[in-house]
Amino acid sequence: MCLTIPAKVVAVKETASGSPMTEITVLASGRTRDIKALDLPGLSPGDWVLCAYDTAVRAISPADAREISDLLEPTRHIDASSLDPAFIDALKGHATRGLTKEKIIRLLKTEDQRELTALFSEANTVRQAHLKDFFCIHGIVEFSNHCIRDCFYCGLRKDSRDVKRYRMTPDEIVETVSDAVNGRGYKLIVLQSGDDFHYTDGTLADIVRGIKKKCRAFIFISVGERGLECYRKMKEAGASGVLFRFETSNKKVYDSIHPGQSHERRLELLRAMKGLGYYAASGFLIGLPGQTVDDIAGDIILMKELGVNMVSAGPFIPCGGTPLAGCPAGSAAMTLKVIAVSRLLMPKAKIPVTTALETIENAEGRRLGLSSGANSLMFNLTPERYRGDYRIYPGKYHGSTGVWERYGLFKEALSYRMLEKKMFEAFEAGKP
Ligand code: 5AD
Repeated sequence: MCLTIPAKVVAVKETASGSPMTEITVLASGRTRDIKALDLPGLSPGDWVLCAYDTAVRAISPADAREISDLLEPTRHIDASSLDPAFIDALKGHATRGLTKEKIIRLLKTEDQRELTALFSEANTVRQAHLKDFFCIHGIVEFSNHCIRDCFYCGLRKDSRDVKRYRMTPDEIVETVSDAVNGRGYKLIVLQSGDDFHYTDGTLADIVRGIKKKCRAFIFISVGERGLECYRKMKEAGASGVLFRFETSNKKVYDSIHPGQSHERRLELLRAMKGLGYYAASGFLIGLPGQTVDDIAGDIILMKELGVNMVSAGPFIPCGGTPLAGCPAGSAAMTLKVIAVSRLLMPKAKIPVTTALETIENAEGRRLGLSSGANSLMFNLTPERYRGDYRIYPGKYHGSTGVWERYGLFKEALSYRMLEKKMFEAFEAGKP
């Protein structure tokens, strides 16, 4: 499910009557282009359209066009000539394959407003050049909040006593996903749970198979550390991707907050998942206690080395009742810089605005994330009766979905093909 920046019709060519195609000229992001309009009779100059590649597929009202443009179109431009040459050198490093750790640290450390504007603007330029303004939305179904792990930051850790635990049945999961796909047009769904071994490998594979039988969608699995055999079975059943964060590249920091877990094993599993052909969504937490800017630069480089296809990095948010309850949250400012630098280093990757960023920034989080180089959103599809109990951290923000659901769903088959192409490109870009 994808949405592009709206284009304004500036000219319409006469075409043979009865033909479903019209040739039109549109203006979008400051450029005019000649494209075709499909099944849109009566278009005239001044109208607004949404395009899929070089085809206008839907006419929209000026008010909706403005709402979408405000959300998606980068408006930050800056005269870079007066900026610190060392900063410019770092900023342009990605174009010459010269984005070293030192340069990444330089970018992450800036707090200068003009440098920040230049960074976000560059990230947007790269996004636009590589992804042609495709913004996608995906859905997540949190099907169980049981967990055998005891991660210090997570509200669902096994020692959390005040969590009302739930599990959705396989049928419930399949129904929820197929309603979202067949009913609302979602095309990429993440199935997430704690590390919950109540669901056997076979059950998880059956759930994926059940979904694939009922609907056409990319299924991403986020069920934590399980044996590789489990991931192999789910892949055979039709799963496309995994969402599995390494949480931090710093082993010491990792060990200090993941009792009984192994950093090496986690990375090994992630590499093995890639080896199975999964599309890999991975990343880290921003603002963990003990984490330095140097570590964050290392996190970004590790994502690149692993060939991550979807970047998943969000701020740590302290959760009551956990050992890190009294620690400060990660900052939105650093999160936006991480998004921008990730975009420079991984031009074709999917970079969603995480719910955690939306939670600390509320209504502004989405717009800020999208104008810092991110290109997708993840909407919560967990049934209402369970949603409040999936409390990884408090105060989870659920932004409005209106304009996205209204327009992101256009032309089912074409929309799926667009996503498929973008997924393929991101997958290929993640190869060594
Ligand atoms: N704040 C932010 N993110 C969290 N996660 C778990 N607990 C928190 C928290 N308190 C993230 C972890 C995990 C993902 C499912 O949720 O990075 O991988």
